[in-house]
Amino acid sequence: MNSPALEDLFTLLRFASVSTDSAYNGATRGAAEWLRNKLESIGLQAALHETPGHPVVLARNEHKTGRQTVLLYGHYDVQPAEPLNEWRTPAFEPTVIDGRIFCRGATDNKGQLMAHVCGIEKTLKEQGELPINLICLFEGEEEIGSPNLKPFLEAHKDELACDVVAISDTGMVAPGQGTFTYGLRGIACAEVIVRGPTIDLHSGIFGGAIANPATMVSKLVASLHDLNGKVAIDGFYDAVLPLAEWEREAWHKLGDSEPETLQLTGSPSLFGEVGYTDLERRWARPTAEVNGIGGGYQGQGSKTVIGRSAFAKLSFRLVPDQNPDDILDKVQAHLKKLSLPGVAIEVELGHTGQPYLMDPFSPRGKAAQKALERTFGNAPALIREGGSIPIVQAFKDVLGVDTLLLGLALPDCQAHAPNENFPIANFEAGMLLNKYLFEELA
Ligand code: BES
Ligand code: MN
Repeated sequence: MNSPALEDLFTLLRFASVSTDSAYNGATRGAAEWLRNKLESIGLQAALHETPGHPVVLARNEHKTGRQTVLLYGHYDVQPAEPLNEWRTPAFEPTVIDGRIFCRGATDNKGQLMAHVCGIEKTLKEQGELPINLICLFEGEEEIGSPNLKPFLEAHKDELACDVVAISDTGMVAPGQGTFTYGLRGIACAEVIVRGPTIDLHSGIFGGAIANPATMVSKLVASLHDLNGKVAIDGFYDAVLPLAEWEREAWHKLGDSEPETLQLTGSPSLFGEVGYTDLERRWARPTAEVNGIGGGYQGQGSKTVIGRSAFAKLSFRLVPDQNPDDILDKVQAHLKKLSLPGVAIEVELGHTGQPYLMDPFSPRGKAAQKALERTFGNAPALIREGGSIPIVQAFKDVLGVDTLLLGLALPDCQAHAPNENFPIANFEAGMLLNKYLFEELA
């Protein structure tokens, strides 16, 4: 179990590369530098590129004319590990229990990324070269919306010219079931801040005579949906492409996902847009979510206060052909038009990422499916995912190429949550998948 490949993954995992928090900038850079050195040590030409944020790691083999060029993308940054007291093992110390590696980033995305790197290392050792021209592009800002990567693609367009992009940063529908993802949801984030009095107030002395910002932010949040789970923002669904009939059928054949969703989430029942199945809601329908809400007193016991402001952090998951900037315009218009009395409403726009959809039956899509079939010994499931990888549509827009999403995460890997984990078996399958993918694309 203690293979050199696993040791390398563990080393990368120990860097607490939390991109959203500048307290971790040292560890984030450490992860980038370690990766660069690793890529160089296996025989690639590798460099660190500065951006206004966290660095980009680029590496390549010696390119030969007449070969396909594959750009392998991954991210070395991770989500915050909090709440720390819910971890059964230290968040940044990889710990193997029952064949799974527990650590922040184990599945999202260091385990999947390193499966490719170690697969490349193995092929180079055994065969002396790869069957394709390779470009590795590993970034450190995926978990904050990749704010600097699209400009980077534009600035390095010639150097990054390729025939296709490959990424392992999505899921498998079940252990051992190869899964090809041909669509992702996009995202648009915003924060709404509601301001009332200039100071916190005694709720007995002033209560009833002025507006309470926490009440008003709740009204704003409640206005985002109707009672049937549909988003109630004017024009929100205008650009939504309906599901294709073949997708509905293919997803139907995956079986009833509701029991598993109930079990994975622990929710007392499912709730969502009327008229769609659980998988359709998660993979092909847009959403409005509250990711954080606050205002007033948050401590123990009670406090009779009217807080002077309140906020909600919102994100919208988008599907083809919704445009994130257009959606943010509509969100702003919606929040402003409610005209709540006695408060001022401010909307701060956050990061965005476009949704993605490709034809899984294109020649390269089929090559990817073949590689999955060789790896897992079964016909791959064809799915979309509800999560976002903000740069994927930019690969299409800037480099003109499709992205093959070959995920290795399992439904219970707990990405972004405490006790994130990645099976060693999936790490090993990923190394094999890397080899077969390059062979099939060649
Ligand atoms: N690996 C995920 C994307 C993902 C999650 C794909 C689940 C398929 C299933 C990626 O690292 C991620 O978490 N992306 C963020 C992007 C956001 C912060 C802009 C996401 O989806 O929340
Ligand atoms: Mn993630």
